[in-house]
Amino acid sequence: MNSATGSPGARILGLGHYRPSKVLTNDDIAAFVDTNDAWIRDRVGVVTRHIAADDESVVDMAVAAAGKALAAAGAEADSIDLVVTATCTLEASLPGASATIATRLGIPGPGAFDLNAACAGFCYGLTVADDAIRCGSAQRVLLIGAEKLSAWVDWTDRSTCIIFGDAAGAAVIGGSETTGIGPVVWGSDGTRAGAITIPGRDAAMHMEGQAVFRWATTTMGKVALEACRRAGVAPEDIAIVVPHQANLRIVDAIVRQLGATNAVVARDIVDSGNTSAASIPLALSRLVERGEARTGDDVLVLAFGAGLTFAGQVITCP
Ligand code: UT7
Repeated sequence: MNSATGSPGARILGLGHYRPSKVLTNDDIAAFVDTNDAWIRDRVGVVTRHIAADDESVVDMAVAAAGKALAAAGAEADSIDLVVTATCTLEASLPGASATIATRLGIPGPGAFDLNAACAGFCYGLTVADDAIRCGSAQRVLLIGAEKLSAWVDWTDRSTCIIFGDAAGAAVIGGSETTGIGPVVWGSDGTRAGAITIPGRDAAMHMEGQAVFRWATTTMGKVALEACRRAGVAPEDIAIVVPHQANLRIVDAIVRQLGATNAVVARDIVDSGNTSAASIPLALSRLVERGEARTGDDVLVLAFGAGLTFAGQVITCP
């Protein structure tokens, strides 16, 4: 139970990430489907991806990433009063992941729910956390993106199995005197709901890759520009751009359209693959770990995926 009264702003206090130990190369995949390393590098940009063990769950990965985020934030488990997990690849429909994750981390009885906006889930969650903290319904939020896509792709379908990977990324978000999570630009297009689907519990992912590619490369640059405009930051002053790691050609197109000429751009897809809701916290956490993103940097995060859904905002690097 909390009795918070609200905060002028909210910001990320610490980040963490986890990737399973098993690494799958393009040549490994070419051994069982008709593809090759050169095509995957050229058309998608992936070189390697991490794949969870059979007995390694979405919750296991989330707990590993979230534990690191708590440590990076210097936050005690009992300071968290809301846990939100963005995921679309849970093993079961019930229970959701968040309450179990909280219990495994020793967070006593927080508000806990899961959020499914597919690959855009983490950016949706940032705004949910920001609103909750500013309105006083939470003081400290643990936001996680965690996915085990390997369990939901058809490993005989070369148009999807080459793209995805498994991982988790997490952020601890708390109150601040200034704005650390800028105004969101979000939306959806349900007329394109059929473009990325997992139609049933025994079905695998189906994706109309070309259609999604066209939509992303014609829509997301404008969303990125609008997110910068609403934050009052010129694109050339953005220090870091972390687009959803769907395809390196999409990443490059968005950055070109945005005109973020001075930014460090996350290209985590190269050795993580597309990890859906985990991709943005994973990529940002790795940039921070390598010292390429620094405290106080303006970071544009921008995500899109099944639904179709999208969301983007300018945030302050912890
Ligand atoms: O994260 C959620 C959002 N998802 C996305 O943003 C995904 C967006 N889409 C994409 O990233 C790309 O469309 C894909 C990576 C999925 C596919 O790349 P593409 O350049 O659009 O390929 P394509 O589907 O147009 O196929 C081109 C050719 C075809 O051969 P033909 O008909 O020209 O002879 C395919 O059969 O490439 C062939 N192909 C492959 N060849 C080798 C398709 N997949 C493969 C493969 N290896 N894995």
